Amino acid sequence: MAHSKHRGPLAAAYAAKRPEDVAALYDRWSQTYDADMSAAGYRHPTICLALLARHLPRGAAPLLDAGAGTGLIGEWLDITGYPLVEALDISEGMLAQAARKGVYSALHCLALGGKLPFADDAYTGIISAGVFTSGHVGAEGLDELIRICRPGGIIVLTVKNTLWEAGFGARIAELEAQGLVTRVEETRPYVSMPGEADTLPSRGLALRVT
Ligand SMILES: C[S@@+](CC[C@H](N)C(=O)[O-])C[C@H]1O[C@@H](n2cnc3c(N)ncnc32)[C@H](O)[C@@H]1O
Repeated sequence: MAHSKHRGPLAAAYAAKRPEDVAALYDRWSQTYDADMSAAGYRHPTICLALLARHLPRGAAPLLDAGAGTGLIGEWLDITGYPLVEALDISEGMLAQAARKGVYSALHCLALGGKLPFADDAYTGIISAGVFTSGHVGAEGLDELIRICRPGGIIVLTVKNTLWEAGFGARIAELEAQGLVTRVEETRPYVSMPGEADTLPSRGLALRVT
């Protein structure tokens, strides 16, 4: 059953220590990821899409799907009227699946968490679902996303509670106090995969870059 099948890769992804381990794990998972996540009732892309669409008008461009994976969100952004979306992910295998969907204007195999090779203010919106979580990317990944998002632009992301309580929430408050972002929305905590054994909640955030 899907239930026990994808507990393996996800649990391993959360426990991964090095970026290359995370990439290898997702490379191996890439071909069955969409079916597994669908079976688990995966909610992050839907929540992120709702938040983005509430704060960026139809046609806003360009957007970056940061940690795009197989491109679930890219497909939905395309359907709902965002014509220019680039994908970034650390896993070549996941990006290969995203490429097959034919909805991204560029694919970047890069790691979040350090310096990104994009100009200041390059994007109008950034969306990052299921990436700010255990074993993936922490608060250290935020500064670069803020730098490459233009003033007035929106960053939508999900944050796992473990990260939130370990300093992510405090970092958001600090960025607000510094006048770098405004928290325009924060969802209540929700479980991202109701069909999974992992029931640690996450929250969705929409930040306006100032
Ligand atoms: C749970 S998946 C989410 C994928 C997609 N956003 C979705 O909602 O279906 C997490 C993704 O983050 C990527 N990832 C993990 N660590 C990363 C990093 N440091 N930089 C870029 N991508 C990373 C993984 O390769 C994987 O595709």
